[in-house]
Amino acid sequence: MGEMRILIRDAKVVFPDQVTETNVLIEGGKILAVDAARDHSAEEVVEAAGKVLMPGVIDDQVHFREPGLTHKETIETGSIACAAGGITTFLEMPNTKPPAVDQHSLRWKYDRASRVSRVNYGFYIGATPDNIEQLQQQHDIPGIKIFIGSSTGDLLVDQQQALERIFAETRLPICAHCEDEATVRANRQRLGADLTVHDHSRIRDHAAARIATQRAVDLAIRYRHRFHVLHVSTADEIPIVRSGKPWVTGEVCPHHLFFSIDDYDRLGTLIQMNPAVKTREDNTALWKALLAGDLQVIATDHAPHTWEEKQAPYPQSPSGMPAVENSLALLLNEYAQGRCTLPQIAHWMADAPARVWGLVGKGRIAPGYDADLVLVDLELEKSIENQQQHTKSGWSAWAGTTLRGWPIRTWVRGQTVMQHGQVAENVRGAAVRCDHQRGGYFATADGIGV
Ligand code: DOR
Repeated sequence: MGEMRILIRDAKVVFPDQVTETNVLIEGGKILAVDAARDHSAEEVVEAAGKVLMPGVIDDQVHFREPGLTHKETIETGSIACAAGGITTFLEMPNTKPPAVDQHSLRWKYDRASRVSRVNYGFYIGATPDNIEQLQQQHDIPGIKIFIGSSTGDLLVDQQQALERIFAETRLPICAHCEDEATVRANRQRLGADLTVHDHSRIRDHAAARIATQRAVDLAIRYRHRFHVLHVSTADEIPIVRSGKPWVTGEVCPHHLFFSIDDYDRLGTLIQMNPAVKTREDNTALWKALLAGDLQVIATDHAPHTWEEKQAPYPQSPSGMPAVENSLALLLNEYAQGRCTLPQIAHWMADAPARVWGLVGKGRIAPGYDADLVLVDLELEKSIENQQQHTKSGWSAWAGTTLRGWPIRTWVRGQTVMQHGQVAENVRGAAVRCDHQRGGYFATADGIGV
């Protein structure tokens, strides 16, 4: 934790409902004041006139592949890519090798991260058809991940009885990958052999997403269990997520906002994802749902595979793409085009995930909050290049794209972890603390949503 007193001066600071030019004082890794005097004493003064100070991004869906698949990514390389992209906290998924499905494997990840991660971290426990005791024993982790539909790895739970038990007998918030396995299998069989990557979106189609999301949201409502729909990919799912309020929240990924089936000709298996990318109409509907507050979170589903693995002919090619170092810039570029506001970006990428997962002291620039911050240059134009990526996978589906608005400095608990693209060696993040009693995203003073 940074012990120094730091004054960030004259920045345009992004608060939940406004952007104000002011001075932010940090001490002991926390925000001490948001309207400090310009000449307040400090060991370091950061002249930030003309720049924007935002809460550090919280990415609640990443796959960092450690243990077991470390040729694709490690907790260290993934965290370095986070720091480069303005992400100060990641929550990592359990489909590693072995999967994180018990106390022992979770502890291993937390220990490893404490030694190597440049940013803050939390790890989900994966549900299996028969690890309910393990799910019940965890407390200070973000939540439980269920794959209702198979993806990378073999963490599939799609039997109704097993799902009912998980929703009925556990307390942690649940999130799920929602693609209906029976629909996916039937589609695959119908389409036969000689598949191309275009068929990926016919196999993992709208119905697959809609059926699984409806099924999971029904369970969440019936058992009054907090539930987060990961990577919503279709317009069809939006009213389903909305119907689950206050128990249910939803998330969108950049690839489902910015890529569609029209991009397969250009990008092929690089944009092969689960859930699959859908149509331009879905892109538009998902964006509108974010603006309307019907979907609350933007996260990447950072899922690195090597370039060579991605070049295999479909369907041998694996699903997934890296994204942590570009997600904030992709959204700032939308701001540059007048499509959203800075407080909206801060909400979707920091405050909302902090509230969904009960992350203590995270997600806002306010006194007492952790000094997890990102300084942004809204004028900086830069194109994404494979050679410059920090992810071990070393490529981006957005390579060649020029974006306006980039993070230029990142602080984790008051320590500078990235400056002008250089990531510090010696900074370490900390495990997030999760307060699930507070009741989640829709919590009010009387505790609805608990
Ligand atoms: O495309 C995907 N790849 N979607 C997921 O949900 C998992 C991920 C992975 O781990 O490769």
